[in-house]
Amino acid sequence: MADRSPSRNLALELVRVTEAAALSAARFMGRGDKPAGDQAAVDGMRLVLNSIEMSGVVIIGEGVKDEAPMLYNGEKLGTGVPPEVDIAVDPIDGTRPLAEGRLNSIATVAIAPRGTMYDPGPFVYMNKIAVGPSAKGVIDVEKPVEWNLRAIAKSSGKRIQDLAVVMLDRPRHEELKAEVRRCGARLRMIDDGDVAGALMTAMPDSSIDVLMGIGGTPEGVLAACALRAMGGEIQGKLFARNDEELARGKAMGYDFEKVLTMDDLVASEDVFFAATGITDGELLDGIKYFPNGARTHSLVVRGATGTVRQVIATHSLEILEKISPIEY
Ligand code: FBP
Repeated sequence: MADRSPSRNLALELVRVTEAAALSAARFMGRGDKPAGDQAAVDGMRLVLNSIEMSGVVIIGEGVKDEAPMLYNGEKLGTGVPPEVDIAVDPIDGTRPLAEGRLNSIATVAIAPRGTMYDPGPFVYMNKIAVGPSAKGVIDVEKPVEWNLRAIAKSSGKRIQDLAVVMLDRPRHEELKAEVRRCGARLRMIDDGDVAGALMTAMPDSSIDVLMGIGGTPEGVLAACALRAMGGEIQGKLFARNDEELARGKAMGYDFEKVLTMDDLVASEDVFFAATGITDGELLDGIKYFPNGARTHSLVVRGATGTVRQVIATHSLEILEKISPIEY
């Protein structure tokens, strides 16, 4: 009988999705063309997602915020047979670093059983706090920075001044940054890519303890899928940019005061997440080209077992030509 739940190990199938996206997009490193890079990643991702035996619906698509070419919300993917799954994609987390030839651009995807992923609708920002396993269960996105840093320090057996907070470098974070400094903790500012920022808190031997600040909602759901499997935690709260957005959200039934827990963001353990480096980064190496092909570095996690795999794969020229034909 056909398998109806995603408990079948889809991890290695899913990693092919982000490998294809990253291989397609890497050609656009530093070429100053954000839409072209995004389009290549979307095309690569869609090609492989459609070959996987599943009946998937995109819950978290990309592109509403900046009208990028997208895998649109509600799009059906896969061969159409069970398991029935929700899909979250961020074909490139870090479109700007890719276009500008900077660090930390990755391709990401997650799947979970149908109906278990949080749908943020058109609301693009979320206030987040994310930690690795050593501080799981002690954070609270509604509490002050100092309260959280004390809790994380206590739970992970460190002093506050030894903690490293990762944060997107944005003007909106000036106050948060000042607060972290006032507490004496260390700061790592990143230009983009808070999925990788959240995941770094849960990597063994990581030098990052906590992610704080306002970033994308799609990225929040993707990070929740990964952290669920990696034993960490993320909490979020939708963030409205202005009164009009707040009023629109309320009229649509969204509660901007509600704390979104891991269970709200993805209500199942049976979750898979994959990411592949496009440009070099702290979490993953970028695509490396060789005379005979290219190498990818990926991370793939499975919630049901908590298995975290790092996958280094080499791809032949023939495959590269299929996935990302070179046009000059
Ligand atoms: P994209 O590359 O998908 O556009 O996202 C990059 C990113 O830095 C995310 O990692 C982050 O969550 C979001 O943008 C923050 O949004 P903004 O750049 O508007 O502050």
